[in-house]
Amino acid sequence: MSKRTKFVAGNWKMNGSLAANQALIEGFASEVQSGVDVSVFCPFPYLAQVAGLVKGTGISFGSQDVSAKASGAYTGEVSVSMLKEFGVTQTLVGHSERRSFHAESSEAVALKAVAALEGGLMPIVCVGETLAERESGLVESVLAAQLDPVVEHCSRFVSNDTWNLVIAYEPVWAIGTGVTASPEQAQAVHAMIRARLKAMLGEVVAQSTRILYGGSVKPGNAAEIFAKEDIDGGLIGGAALSSSDFSGIIRAAR
Ligand code: G3P
Repeated sequence: MSKRTKFVAGNWKMNGSLAANQALIEGFASEVQSGVDVSVFCPFPYLAQVAGLVKGTGISFGSQDVSAKASGAYTGEVSVSMLKEFGVTQTLVGHSERRSFHAESSEAVALKAVAALEGGLMPIVCVGETLAERESGLVESVLAAQLDPVVEHCSRFVSNDTWNLVIAYEPVWAIGTGVTASPEQAQAVHAMIRARLKAMLGEVVAQSTRILYGGSVKPGNAAEIFAKEDIDGGLIGGAALSSSDFSGIIRAAR
């Protein structure tokens, strides 16, 4: 049994409304207990509302992206300092939808993670291969190409054999498709990621880093996936928009 605290994170993507957000959070807040960390990642406009809704619930919240820049002529971007003004403590970086729709390179993702760490935010760094890459036997090389720049740029934030960074393995072919990686498939990749962290940062950092699985996690499959040795919880998309489903996934993490 790992010593890492299970973590269930809900990525709302470009979904929500003031009314729906309140109903959603109020619908699952009672499931949040010690022993499982729970976070929600809402669209930028809702940060102030969500900050108020999660107050006193034990739920953390964050953004789905962040600029690598501190300020300036970067239209449409949002800086770490702006997020912190709203009480944000975490941010996703490198989600596959940003890598594909916004041409985010692994180097750019790594620099976003640096900005987050420098500002005291916990980055959840998303990595994952496409179906074509998996079918071509390229999983390890693709993940290495995504992970290595993050480790190279962020290793300086390792202190006392730990760092405030989480990795999320999200096979692109499992995102939003209903085709979930089998627990064995996910465990194999998580073990590969942890082994790479060990090779680059040492055993203690590798063992203390939480690695989440994302890709069609549902209440019915979460427990079996989360039970795997190197899977420390989930990054949830569609099911995070249903308070009953998200509650079921939180229960599965206990
Ligand atoms: O970031 C989580 C997301 O990509 C997974 O989406 O709908 O397959 O749970 P979904």
